[in-house]
Amino acid sequence: MTEHWTPASWRGKPAKHVPTDYPDPAALSQVEQTLRKMPPLVFAGEARRLKSLLGEVSEGRAFLLQGGDCAESFKEFHADNIRDLFRLILQMAVVLTFAGGKPVVKVGRMAGQFGKPRSSPVEKIGDVELPSYRGDNINGMEFTPEARIPDPQRLIQAYGQSSATLNLLRAFAGGGYADLYNIHRWTLGFVNDSPQGARYRELSEKISESLTFMAAIGVTPETHPEMHRVEFFTSHEGLLLGYEEAMTRVDSTSGEWYDTSAHLLWIGERTRQLDHAHVEFFRGIKNPIGLKVGPTLEPDELLRLIDVLNPKNEAGRLTLYGRFGYDKIEDRLPRLLRATKASGRNVVWAIDPMHGNTLTANSGYKTRPFDRILSEVRSFIDTCKAEGVHPGGVHLEMTGQNVTECLGGARALTEGDLADRYHTHCDPRLNGEQALELAFLVAEKLKEDRVDLSKRAAVNI
Ligand code: PEP
Ligand code: CO
Repeated sequence: MTEHWTPASWRGKPAKHVPTDYPDPAALSQVEQTLRKMPPLVFAGEARRLKSLLGEVSEGRAFLLQGGDCAESFKEFHADNIRDLFRLILQMAVVLTFAGGKPVVKVGRMAGQFGKPRSSPVEKIGDVELPSYRGDNINGMEFTPEARIPDPQRLIQAYGQSSATLNLLRAFAGGGYADLYNIHRWTLGFVNDSPQGARYRELSEKISESLTFMAAIGVTPETHPEMHRVEFFTSHEGLLLGYEEAMTRVDSTSGEWYDTSAHLLWIGERTRQLDHAHVEFFRGIKNPIGLKVGPTLEPDELLRLIDVLNPKNEAGRLTLYGRFGYDKIEDRLPRLLRATKASGRNVVWAIDPMHGNTLTANSGYKTRPFDRILSEVRSFIDTCKAEGVHPGGVHLEMTGQNVTECLGGARALTEGDLADRYHTHCDPRLNGEQALELAFLVAEKLKEDRVDLSKRAAVNI
């Protein structure tokens, strides 16, 4: 991997899950030319800022919260949906910050999360077989032959939707919507209504007390305008390399290449082959990047991938998202943690407890049991602790909407409930309540760590 890199050098390698069946390849090239001229969605300086915050995570001084839709869609594009997801991420961050005592780095799976790798290239209903739906930026979800034909114009629409989403996110993050007191007030509503509210009341009361104390000593959003603002970043799987290439520009400050379609991009579990196109593209962009780490990855291959993707061993450059499944994590994760720790590789370890825990219900709906999701998160934190590695963060598929896609949670959603509000365009998401419940549980576990740490300190003294 010492060959010369360019934004297009991936084109000389085999690429999985990048569609090659556009009926009119010239029209696709035309669209890519148009995208090259579009303004960047993010700035290189912002991506560098996120990298430095992730560097803090890698040192154990901060926690990463990343989440959003499995697949954004043209149909569900609405200001209210963006607002509700943004608000949910902030609510979860408040819970995690107060319990963990560490700043939370907030990253949305949004403003560009469209393209999907699919386990099968075809979908069969009855006797009819059609190409699979691959995300709204490629083809349509309707089960008709016309909808399933890849259409390059969809890339332009996805760019436009990403741009409008990001514009609203920037306004929310900087324009006073993110007021800490409001965010906490909304969470209190959840605690009061939740069947498990009592469990969370104590933590919630502590947050209220802290806010009251801060106000008493004069720290309020009025006296400290920065309390009105939050730093918020965007991310998506960098799957469609033609689009990502078109969005990759030289930063005038550093002279380096940045993919300006999002602050952070990650390589999916199905496209992380060392000698393939995705790894080739990712090694050259300077954004902070991520890599999904599934149950078949062995330590030696992980170390080789790290060497290619983060050759200078920079803090914050590379986040590893374990996604094993609740029943596999305890077998697979320890050896990988040991490998990165023993070899001094500077990475963030985070957990995606969604993609190893998907099953198909009898009714045919793809779903995920909430207790398995929680179980994988718990195992992640415990295993990291046992191996002396910082459990750096969570990567979740979730929505601020009250959907019925994952089983269980405080309201004990059943298979019979799934049909009520099953809206996802791809994988099942946690709804707002389930996501907040998960944040409280993670917070409880991080709090245990703080107690442990203080005990350890007392013994040492
Ligand atoms: C995803 O994050 O939507 C995804 C497809 O995950 P993975 O690559 O881990 O399967
Ligand atoms: Co998914």
